[in-house]
Amino acid sequence: MSVGDKYETHSVDVLVVGAGGAGLRAAIEAAKEGVEVGVVCKSLLGKAHTVMAEGGIAAALGNVDPEDNWKEHFRDTMYGGKFLNDWRFALKHAQLAPECVKELQEWGALFDRTPDGRIMQRAFGGHSWRRLVHVGDRTGLEMIRTLQDKLLSFPNVKIFQECTVIHLFKDGNAISGALAYIRETGRFIVFKTKAVLLATGGLGKIYKITSNSWEYTGSGYALAILAGAELKDMEFIQFHPTGMVWPPSVQGVLVTEAVRGEGGRLYNAKGERFMQKYDPVRLELSTRDLVARSIYTEIKEGRGTEHGGVYLDVSHLPAEQVKKKLPGMYKQFLEFAGIDITRQPMEVAPTTHYTMGGVVVDPDTQMSRVPGLFAAGETAVGLHGANRLGGNSLSDLLVFGKLAGKGAAEYASSLTKDLKIDKDELERAIKEALKPFETKDGTSPYEIHEKMKETMQNYVGIFREEKDLQKALSIIEELKNTKVKVNGNIMYNPAWHLALDLKFMLICAEAVIRCALGRKDSIGAHSRLDYPDPPKEKYNHYVWIENGELKMRKEPTPEVPDELKALLNTPPSRKWEERSGS
Ligand code: FUM
Repeated sequence: MSVGDKYETHSVDVLVVGAGGAGLRAAIEAAKEGVEVGVVCKSLLGKAHTVMAEGGIAAALGNVDPEDNWKEHFRDTMYGGKFLNDWRFALKHAQLAPECVKELQEWGALFDRTPDGRIMQRAFGGHSWRRLVHVGDRTGLEMIRTLQDKLLSFPNVKIFQECTVIHLFKDGNAISGALAYIRETGRFIVFKTKAVLLATGGLGKIYKITSNSWEYTGSGYALAILAGAELKDMEFIQFHPTGMVWPPSVQGVLVTEAVRGEGGRLYNAKGERFMQKYDPVRLELSTRDLVARSIYTEIKEGRGTEHGGVYLDVSHLPAEQVKKKLPGMYKQFLEFAGIDITRQPMEVAPTTHYTMGGVVVDPDTQMSRVPGLFAAGETAVGLHGANRLGGNSLSDLLVFGKLAGKGAAEYASSLTKDLKIDKDELERAIKEALKPFETKDGTSPYEIHEKMKETMQNYVGIFREEKDLQKALSIIEELKNTKVKVNGNIMYNPAWHLALDLKFMLICAEAVIRCALGRKDSIGAHSRLDYPDPPKEKYNHYVWIENGELKMRKEPTPEVPDELKALLNTPPSRKWEERSGS
């Protein structure tokens, strides 16, 4: 069969890879600009992982606490990220989030309301004011529903469902296309395009215990770095403090921070409200890095529960309030664990949740250093620094999805040259994708995946040290050199899909470990037992690929300009409580 029989070709101006919040928001903006847009969903449209951001969208509307404003949000985000954030992203995000929320409302999002009919806002960790716009504990779902409805109103958008991108093409330096396959038929698709916008989310599936769904295989990071872009801050993996621990089939499933935002309390098995010891001011609403470390420490030091967690309790709140504000959690625990959270405590422990690092992009256009390659949402880097505040991901993907969509459309419209895809490169990319079927003595992709997940979980977790990280690196290197073998054919073959994902996951795992090894200090989500002190000077790690090898360098974090420094004098606290005296 000649290569031409194996694929179909589609031409679009902007190809958005990923149909979560960032991808949909970007696609809407690009479509508004009038260019032809293709949207690739790894899953079915609407089944995005964004729905797992349950607790809310951080935006300083000031509806509940009138003192809140973008300056306060900017300050909280910079403190949350331990000042390793690129201030330009934090500033834009804080300033633009409120209007992005209002836009979503105009498009039909039905947010919870204050008694006088304004958008309701709730407390969340590390935010000084009640700031999170929400729909009970199903905010991400409402966001996806709204964005999807809006997107489908544009005639210049084509959707490709159950489709996975595996290679990017360049003409000279600039992006010219992408190779993908359809999961059901295995048929390849060649996209001819002027711009590719990566919105593929994170990489949680390289860990064993994660809140992330199956799509989160780090493909955006790997595609970008293989195409010549740089990644930054890959050592910073967020462990959400509260994932389910029991029964084992649901281990890692998210227990939203909204539970603590609504007043939930954490206790160890001795009945101690242990956050009083770790952060007596902010307690359960401290930043995620600190709450996750505290829970982990309680468990490690023998004060954990029967199933290896701690207790999260809302039984002191009125049952009706719990059911109204946390309906998803009520149902989740009743159905999966047989626990009625209005009367019994939940058992929780940290779960891999979010990648603070990502593709380095320009703060205005979201374009990487590769012309025509854009990234947004969790796939991009800049806003969160060493630790993301809860709720800042949904606002991130609205703000920067919008900018990326506009940036990509403007870039595509400005191109006059006809871009080419090299036939030989296409042939090679398809051949490489089919290689697992030809391998004689190879290993099952499931076996390799299990080993990678165990390795990352055991050696690159919340607390890290040199010997563990070195061990992890040598295992990942060995796995990279292991031949993968897959049986059967390209028709719906999950083993083959995993084999293709593995290549990307292993690149990501290596990037995380190398950055973690390089950071000989402790800050935010990165805690080294052997280097417990914070860095003397703020810096970020950049990684890229040169001659097939991952390279890394350090650069000082961009200096905050003097006029903004003045906003950063007072650390965040639970300010609404200080005001009301409660
Ligand atoms: O806990 C949560 O609802 C997750 C939100 C987030 O990651 O921003």
